[in-house]
Amino acid sequence: MKSVVIQQPGKLVIEERSLPQPSAGEVRVKVSYAGICGSDVHIHHGHNPFAKYPRVIGHEFFGHIDSVGEGVDAIRIGERVVVDPVVSCGHCYPCSIGRPNVCTELQVIGVHRDGGFSDYACVPAANAYRVPVAISDELASMVEPFTIAANITAFLKPQPQDTALIYGAGPMGLTVIQVLKGVYGVQKVIVADRIDERLAMAKQSGADWIINNQYQSVADALAAEGIRPTIVIDAACHPAILQEAILLASPAARIGMMGFSGETSSVTQQSITSKEISLFSSRLNSHRFPQVIEWMEQGKIDPKKLVTHWMPATDVEAAMHLFEKDQRACCKVLLKFPMHG
Ligand code: NAI
Ligand code: MN
Ligand code: ZN
Repeated sequence: MKSVVIQQPGKLVIEERSLPQPSAGEVRVKVSYAGICGSDVHIHHGHNPFAKYPRVIGHEFFGHIDSVGEGVDAIRIGERVVVDPVVSCGHCYPCSIGRPNVCTELQVIGVHRDGGFSDYACVPAANAYRVPVAISDELASMVEPFTIAANITAFLKPQPQDTALIYGAGPMGLTVIQVLKGVYGVQKVIVADRIDERLAMAKQSGADWIINNQYQSVADALAAEGIRPTIVIDAACHPAILQEAILLASPAARIGMMGFSGETSSVTQQSITSKEISLFSSRLNSHRFPQVIEWMEQGKIDPKKLVTHWMPATDVEAAMHLFEKDQRACCKVLLKFPMHG
């Protein structure tokens, strides 16, 4: 079989590897589609502090179970599955309270261990979730990015009367918009980005109002309408956004953060406490796959609106380049497997 391997930072190779055998408790997935995410690009460039090399990247993938390890019911062979990349120990404090995504021994498939940009991938059986027929092969790998939105919105508990402001209309911002509108029925969702094409996608995903903050400050645009958002989500993840979010937010607002920057954000206690603002951070997902699969099956969210490209996995390097360099034409890129035969 063939696998996409980052042998060392900057060096991507399609390697011939022997077919992996599932260990006890694992299933082997014959991959058919996998999504490219910013973190794959970061591992390629050597910018992910958690990644060890060589590494098979890819944590958003769909396929069929074609073999099972000891202790896994063989009835699962043939099952269409998507894979939760969060592998946890099951007994540490965060695991014990249902938050395996911040397990003290967290292993993310495609980051800490080999991932899904491969003709086959072995994963824990419990991480492979059955996909109902209503979700097509071509779109099933989109479940994972929506679990990020499911996770952050679970903290924010959106209500229909909320006014939400989202920074960033990349894949993360777009999934958040769809969940706020389609699942929670939030009446007013405002989206700020610097790229008009991305803002057009935000509209397609349900945004009520878009602001290009390259030309107009979000503060001015909101002040002109007398709007103070009650939910702010930073899906652009620039460290300067937190300060602006706190400034613009309504008293009693909730703010959601999802960035990993190592740079300082400059905020004061007064700006937060005087309005009794709640700050939530969210990383990956905690057991959100079943919920997102249900939303997708019911048509509450529409992954197709994010996908701009399907490309053969053998073109992975070109696909990652396009994904990184052309944010106007390109949003979600899905790779088609196998690379062999
Ligand atoms: P992306 O780069 O495709 O999208 C970011 C968008 O934000 C772009 O459209 C860009 O034009 C816009 N943007 C940048 N600076 C801005 C600003 N100051 N104001 C308004 N818009 C601005 O990235 P993607 O895939 O959507 O991910 C977004 C962020 O989410 C990344 O930083 C990533 O690290 C983080 N992330 C966090 C996860 C978590 O579990 N916490 C999971 C996945 C991604
Ligand atoms: Mn991802
Ligand atoms: Zn744990």
